[in-house]
Amino acid sequence: MSSSGNREFGYELGEVVIPEDAIEKKVAELGADIAVDYRDRTPLLVGVLKGAMIFMSDLIRELDFPLEVDMMAISSYGSSTSNSGVVRILKDLDTDLTGRHVLIVEDIVDSGLTLSYLTRNLLSRNPASLEICSLIVKDGHSRQSSEIRYVGFHIPPVFVVGYGLDIGERFRNLRQIYSYDVEDSQ
Ligand code: IMP
Repeated sequence: MSSSGNREFGYELGEVVIPEDAIEKKVAELGADIAVDYRDRTPLLVGVLKGAMIFMSDLIRELDFPLEVDMMAISSYGSSTSNSGVVRILKDLDTDLTGRHVLIVEDIVDSGLTLSYLTRNLLSRNPASLEICSLIVKDGHSRQSSEIRYVGFHIPPVFVVGYGLDIGERFRNLRQIYSYDVEDSQ
């Protein structure tokens, strides 16, 4: 475990699961793929708060064509680390989706419940198209991974923090993505 480098944050984090340079490279690759598909479509990128905010802000700066951005906040977790299946909209979109090419930007897909709810909800608003870009998909858990058009990383089903991802609102500001051993810390 490379914990010594993490003590400056005052916590013992687990190992680095995705280092900063790998994130940077992958976001650029995703941007290039999205540019090929969306360059002439003025897409609306829908970020899912709060976890996707850092990924979203890096991703849109890789895109050098007209686009719009909106944000949605939903709560999906009954506890801090397990999904109850209950999804609630805390902040809805400001934009009318009718006829728009919508790209959902997610931080991480675990069970896929959040995404499944979100997809159904946004499709009912009659967009011209709806696709998903998730920085991370957890292996084995997601029921929907085949429906995610752009995936940054597949990781084992461990809890991770950093680069926008939190536990109890902490660690979003870390530049790398670390594992976090939930049982040892609660
Ligand atoms: P799902 O509905 O189980 O797919 O969970 C999706 C949401 O749960 C994500 O958008 C995150 O907000 C949160 N989440 C899932 N796994 C993790 C994790 O390992 N770290 C931090 N947040 C997570």
